[in-house]
Amino acid sequence: MDLIIRRAMLPPSATSQHEQHKQHKEPVDIGIEAGRIVSVEPNLAASAHEEIDAAGSLVTPPFVDPHFHMDATLSYGLPRVNASGTLLEGIALWGELKPDLTQEALIERALQYCDWAVARGLLAIRSHVDVCDPRLLAVEALLEVKRRVAPYLDLQLVAFPQDGVLRSAGAFENLKRAIAMGVDVVGGIPHFERTMADGAQSVRMLCEFAAEQGLRVDMHCDESDDPMSRHIETLAAETHRLGLHGRVTGSHLTSMHSMDNYYVSKLLPLMRESGVAAIANPLINITLQGRSDTYPKRRGMTRVPEMMAAGINVAFGHDCVMDPWYSLGSGDMLEVAHMGLHVAQMTGVDAMHACFDAVTVNAARILGLEGYGIAPGCVANLVLLDARDPVEAIRLRAARLAVVSRGKVVSRAPAARAALSLEGRPAEVDFKLHRG
Ligand code: FE2
Repeated sequence: MDLIIRRAMLPPSATSQHEQHKQHKEPVDIGIEAGRIVSVEPNLAASAHEEIDAAGSLVTPPFVDPHFHMDATLSYGLPRVNASGTLLEGIALWGELKPDLTQEALIERALQYCDWAVARGLLAIRSHVDVCDPRLLAVEALLEVKRRVAPYLDLQLVAFPQDGVLRSAGAFENLKRAIAMGVDVVGGIPHFERTMADGAQSVRMLCEFAAEQGLRVDMHCDESDDPMSRHIETLAAETHRLGLHGRVTGSHLTSMHSMDNYYVSKLLPLMRESGVAAIANPLINITLQGRSDTYPKRRGMTRVPEMMAAGINVAFGHDCVMDPWYSLGSGDMLEVAHMGLHVAQMTGVDAMHACFDAVTVNAARILGLEGYGIAPGCVANLVLLDARDPVEAIRLRAARLAVVSRGKVVSRAPAARAALSLEGRPAEVDFKLHRG
C-alpha cells in the first residue's frame, strides 16, 4: 500500500449515517492505495511505503466550506479598510475595488488562500464568483485557480450576480456566459433586487435556467433582518415545481431569525419537502446582522437546530476571510463550527456533534462530492487532528497534525503544547483532560 494511518479514531458520522453520534470505541487502521481508501479495520495486516501513527487521535474526512468568496479573499485593506465594519460599507468597498482588480492578483490571492485551506485540512470549497463585471475577470481567474488546485483541492464555483441579476444590466447574460465557461452552480441574490416581486421573479428565472442546464442552485437568500423577506419560500416552491429536489441551497437565510414563529412552522416542512439545503455563515451573520438594532440586539443567524430537527440538511460556511466584509479568519472551519455552536446555543452532546457535521459531511452533501468519507472506495482525503473526538476538536480548534489529499500527505503541523515549570516540577500542558 502507499500509506497506512494506524490507530485512528473515526468521527461517528464518517462511516455510517445510521449510527450518527455514537463514537466508535476502537481505533482502526486506514489503508490507502492509488489515492483511494482500500481498507478500514483494526490491526490491518499489511505494510506501506509510509505509515502514520495516529495514536488514538481523531482522523476525519476533510473539512468542506460550502460558502465562500474567493474572488474577494485576502484583499483586506485594498483600497482601504472597512471603517464601520458594516455590510453596506463592505459592498461599497467591493465596488471601489472591482475596477482595479487584475487577473494575476486575483489568482495569486486565491492560491494563497488555498494554501491556507489545505494547511487547515479544508480540501473542498464552494466559492461564489461575482459575474456582474462584463469582463468576467474574476470568473476567468477562478477557473484558472480551479484547474491549478484540482490535484489537491475540490473548488466548486457559483455564478453570483452580486448586484442583482435583474437590477444589474447584463447580469443574466454574464451569468450564462460564466456557466458556459465552466462555472458549476447557478447563484442569485433575490433580497438585493429592487422589489420583493423582482426578487421572486429572479428566483423563478434562475431556477428555470438551472433546471434546463441540469445544474445545482445556491442563492444568497434573505440575508437581512427583515422578518418579511421570504424568498426562501419561493426558492423552495420553485425547487419543488421544477423537480430540483436535493440540488438547491439557500445561503444565509438570516431573515428566518426574525420571522414570525407560526410562519416558520409552515416554512420548515416546505423546505424539507423540496429537499432545499441551508447554509448558515456564523462568523459573518453574527457580525453583520442586527446592526440597526439597539438592545436587545438580534444575533441574525438562521434557525439552525430547528432546521436540523425538521430534517433539513444544514451546513456552516466561512463566507469571508480578510476581505471588504470581514477583517478576520484563516480558513479554519473549526473556528466556524465553534462560532455556530455558540450562536445557536447548540451545547447538547448531539448538537455539538451536529456542528462538526455541519463543516464536514453535511457540507459535502451540498457540494455533491463523490467518494467523501472514510470507508473502502472513498477518495483518500483525510485529516489527523490533535483531538480525540469531534467535540474536543471544536473546543481546541485542534491542530491539523497531518492532512492527506488524494492519498498524499500535503501538510503537517506540530501539536499545540506548552512546557511549564511550576513549583520545581516540569510539566507539559496539552489542554486535554487525561482521565485514566
Ligand atoms: Fe456570501
